[in-house]
Amino acid sequence: MTEASSAPRPGGERPDGAADTRAKVHRAETKTKTPQEAKKAGPTLDAVRGDERVRTYIRSANQQMGAIGYTEHGERHANTCADGARFILRSLGHEPRRCELAAIAAYLHDIGNVITREKHGQTGALLAKDILEDLGFDHEEIAIVMGAVANHEEEEGGTAVSPVSAAVILADKSDVHRSRVRNPKTTAFDIHDRVNYAATSAEIKVSRKEKQIALYLTIDTEVAALMEYFEIFLSRMVLCRRAAEFLHCSFALVINDTRLL
Ligand SMILES: [Fe+2]
Ligand SMILES: [Fe+2]
Repeated sequence: MTEASSAPRPGGERPDGAADTRAKVHRAETKTKTPQEAKKAGPTLDAVRGDERVRTYIRSANQQMGAIGYTEHGERHANTCADGARFILRSLGHEPRRCELAAIAAYLHDIGNVITREKHGQTGALLAKDILEDLGFDHEEIAIVMGAVANHEEEEGGTAVSPVSAAVILADKSDVHRSRVRNPKTTAFDIHDRVNYAATSAEIKVSRKEKQIALYLTIDTEVAALMEYFEIFLSRMVLCRRAAEFLHCSFALVINDTRLL
């Protein structure tokens, strides 16, 4: 996969300079739009991210998830998923507006946690609907975002229902990293803490030529055995495979330089 490109990792962990360059290029392109062009293109992720309700709900959702023992679900996770989802569709040659919608849906995908963890995909889709309507998105685009947000969780019966939805699933399930663990006591880790803490790097690579989306993980096997990873993530990887197939790609899982799926 020499021609494969890798997803940017936002939220304070952007180890590769290329990712930052890509982000800078995107911002530069946005600035050169005339007001008419910007209006025609529709609202962007920046407008969503800047909305007071979005900021408050994601912050509160993260606090509430922390209170019931979940890993980090805040702005870092939202940004990582937004960049990942945009990157996947862009790498496969999808048109820019669809890539923007993927970033928006990924940014909002966990917002429903502000209500309850259970069915947070569905509640999040309805929260997103009101906000996106107020921001001036057209109904066609809101429908795509709602479907993607509502279908991102395998435990809630979610599965890829559109290219945007597939990109959100792949980006979300790929965000496995020790920075998401907030339990300060390693001796009190549960299996989710252990597996996330064991992941010292996670990178999405997309090869348009080979039609393959791959998740490369580095797992410290002294922290968690690979079996524990599979115990938690097997159903997520099945969801990722289906999402990749929706994008006419195969899915590969590579852990510690060994291809496992
Ligand atoms: Fe979720
Ligand atoms: Fe998530």
